Amino acid sequence: MVTKFLYLSFVTAVFSKLYDLDTISSIFISPNSSAKMQITSNPTTGYSWRLIPPDSFPIKCPNPSGTFIAANTLALGAPGKQIFELICTTECHEGDTETLTLIYSRPWEKEPVQFKTITVTVTFDADQINN
Ligand SMILES: *[C@@H]1O[C@H](CO)[C@@H](O)[C@H](O)[C@H]1NC(C)=O
Repeated sequence: MVTKFLYLSFVTAVFSKLYDLDTISSIFISPNSSAKMQITSNPTTGYSWRLIPPDSFPIKCPNPSGTFIAANTLALGAPGKQIFELICTTECHEGDTETLTLIYSRPWEKEPVQFKTITVTVTFDADQINN
């Protein structure tokens, strides 16, 4: 019992929260922490999501193209997920907000076929908010 409790504490401390952008568009993040966001994507179609990085300090997205994780299936052309990491630096303050835009497009096409707006709110209570 004690071992299990310690294990869970460790996991909570090490892994950042993962938000599912297929269903939500509000992200809560604590100063000096990071969060991950995932969204369904199917690169075999040529389309992929890209995050328009916020021009304002202090919330950063180190990799605006995200990381693609294939679906856990052998089906060819099955959609997977793109994962994006957001980093809230120590310069983040409680109550800061930031709007991010994700666009779904093919590299050779000008107009995105889909876009998604995400609101990021900085709060020390980020871990207590369930969404
Ligand atoms: C930021 O987080 C790291 C790792 O948890 C910690 O060591 C550091 O003291 C924190 N910095 C501030 C300014 O809170």
